[in-house]
Amino acid sequence: PSLIEKVSRAPKAELHVHIEGTLEPELIFKLAQRNNVPLAWPTVDDLRLAYQFTSLQSFLDIYYAGTSVLQTEDDFYEMTSAYLDNACQNGVIHAEIFFDPQSHTSRGIGFDVFIPGMIRALENAREKGISTQLIMCFLRHLPESDALKTFADSREWFSRHPEWLTGVGLDSSENGNPPEKFARVFARAKAAGLRRVAHAGEEGPVEYIWQALQLLDSERIDHGVRSLDDPDLIAHLSDTQMPLTVCPLSNVKLRVFDTMADHNLRELLQAGVNVTINSDDPAYFGGHVNANYESVIDALQLTESECYTLLENSLMSAFVDTPTREQMV
Ligand code: HPA
Ligand code: ZN
Repeated sequence: PSLIEKVSRAPKAELHVHIEGTLEPELIFKLAQRNNVPLAWPTVDDLRLAYQFTSLQSFLDIYYAGTSVLQTEDDFYEMTSAYLDNACQNGVIHAEIFFDPQSHTSRGIGFDVFIPGMIRALENAREKGISTQLIMCFLRHLPESDALKTFADSREWFSRHPEWLTGVGLDSSENGNPPEKFARVFARAKAAGLRRVAHAGEEGPVEYIWQALQLLDSERIDHGVRSLDDPDLIAHLSDTQMPLTVCPLSNVKLRVFDTMADHNLRELLQAGVNVTINSDDPAYFGGHVNANYESVIDALQLTESECYTLLENSLMSAFVDTPTREQMV
């Protein structure tokens, strides 16, 4: 088999995927009709044609419009089940899945709707051999007070489902919304025994990566590709083996890099950084996790050894003990 085939079949963990970013255009239209939600695009094809992004914000505007069709517990169940089917086909044995509660509560959809819907899908997937956890992300373009209220409202759900709900994250519009804005809510999450991750250094400066580490006590950095701007940061990331959850197709679609050949993944690997490969928003960026591996293998001519490092990093950087390469082969 080719290297791409071997990597596709290999067991892997996915540590950076937004469940709302797995909503395919067909399911968006189906749920819009079922729930009588108006959409700005007349057909599925028109919606797909709108997926031409120039920046993170240009994507987020469409991503939140897509999210608006999610209304019932069954909608969240269907979306999550569809992602997990794809994840299984991509060799994913463990997934840590982001969700954006504020994009639902702001529309009057409560935790009692989306949490049970998602968990029902996670329970079914466990029988297919995929373990999962949910990470609740705060929308950084909203005020700190909104995040504090969301965290307070979420507490009973974290208590009720500690095996499924394990951590908090930080996403949405990065520039102008530094991690320091969320230091207090992350301190509360840590005090409650929750794991912590944050998007940083996707479009934003290296200063935001330092803040995520020092002010949020983040245990992984989501994206983090701008870390190569600061040699001291690269040395720190390498020394501490801080995981970066890199999303190559996302980076090219959102113009963080002009082409995949320009991606800095190999430089990160060569600097000894603990890099992983993930899909971010697979319905919007052109594929699930294996498509991300395939794209970087092709564009950067990754070696077999580099690929196994990436796969092993994914399993080792999860918040649970996953089987090691030695145990799997
Ligand atoms: N960055 C920030 N927020 C997001 C992303 C991302 O890549 N995907 C979904 N929300
Ligand atoms: Zn993301």
